[in-house]
Amino acid sequence: MVDRGNEASEAPFLQALAGKQPRGRVPIWLMRQAGRYLPEYRKVRAEAGSFLDLCYTPKLAAEVTLQPIRRFGFDAAIIFSDILIVPHALGQHVTFEEGEGPRLEPISTAADLARLDPARVEERFGLVYEAIRETVAGLGSTPLIGFCGAPWTVATYMVEGGGSPDQRAAKLFSYRDRAAFSDLIGLIVQVSASYLIGQAGAGARALQIFDSWAGSLSDSDFEDWVIAPTADLVGRVKTACPDVSVIGFPRGSGPNYRRYAEATGIDGLGCDTAAPLSLMRNMQAQVTVQGNLDPILLLAGGDAMERRVMAILDSLGRGPFIFNLGHGILPETPIAHVERLVEMVHGFNRQF
Ligand code: CP3
Repeated sequence: MVDRGNEASEAPFLQALAGKQPRGRVPIWLMRQAGRYLPEYRKVRAEAGSFLDLCYTPKLAAEVTLQPIRRFGFDAAIIFSDILIVPHALGQHVTFEEGEGPRLEPISTAADLARLDPARVEERFGLVYEAIRETVAGLGSTPLIGFCGAPWTVATYMVEGGGSPDQRAAKLFSYRDRAAFSDLIGLIVQVSASYLIGQAGAGARALQIFDSWAGSLSDSDFEDWVIAPTADLVGRVKTACPDVSVIGFPRGSGPNYRRYAEATGIDGLGCDTAAPLSLMRNMQAQVTVQGNLDPILLLAGGDAMERRVMAILDSLGRGPFIFNLGHGILPETPIAHVERLVEMVHGFNRQF
């Protein structure tokens, strides 16, 4: 009989995350790999109606998660969902407007905060767990990544009511009423821990924490709103699921990457496009690094892309490394460019 556990633990993606001496191919997956650049995604998306309906319909969420694996043979799948499922499950009003991004009813006072209700989150999370079970059944030996937003990034959306260039509303909330903001961060940690543990229980082999706005904080706020809550979240997850690997993606945190890797307990460090390859290479002594091709280079394709892909592989491909973009794939990206990228990464010959 095939032992699925052993089979899956030999997957290049999981080996890389375990920091093992790399053998075989460099694993690759792309942030937002299920999405609008794929015609088969656009078809299912149109049938589903709203974006949230797609997230909460396990059969359809599983189908769009599997699409990029079938097409490109990526080394890991990531469950199709969104970081804003957590505020939605807490009872905050969330919508996704076509071409405009997410809209939330902003939380601006301690009274708004008190209306959030963590008692019923698992009802909604249950649909994501079901999508995970369904996806895992269709994946064979390819591992599945579960995810959530990091407390700081989720808080910025909850307070701002959407995305913003400078996270002003969340910062103002934190500066004016530190205790209430700290309560909000604590609530997100608690709910996200149970969400990640539930995803691992349903079959996710690795978990990624997306901190898209980690780069906008001063060093002391970075400590309080990124490092401490992430360390708390990772600690809770690792206590409940010691075998699951965690990737942190504190986008834009430059000189703070080292501190983040040292202090949060993550196994993998997701790096954005601006992270120097020399820094990533130094970090490989400590953690598995993941990244960091510019999504705009993948859009451009051709020689410029190929030169950079080789530079990344040459710098990082002989240590614990997972190839990815520095941020999500852009909807306009030609499919042929993704095919060429996968071919290059899988064709890279590791010389020792
Ligand atoms: O990576 C994957 O393929 C898994 C699915 C996934 C989505 N969002 C699907 C999605 C993941 C991991 C996310 C994470 C996410 N969502 C982040 C963190 C990463 C980052 O991009 O910084 C953030 C900040 C969000 C919040 C969010 N959701 C925004 C800002 C938007 C609008 C931007 C856009 O591209 O339209 C979304 C919508 C969203 N989430 C889409 C997808 C495929 C596009 C909506 C659609 O198909 O209509």
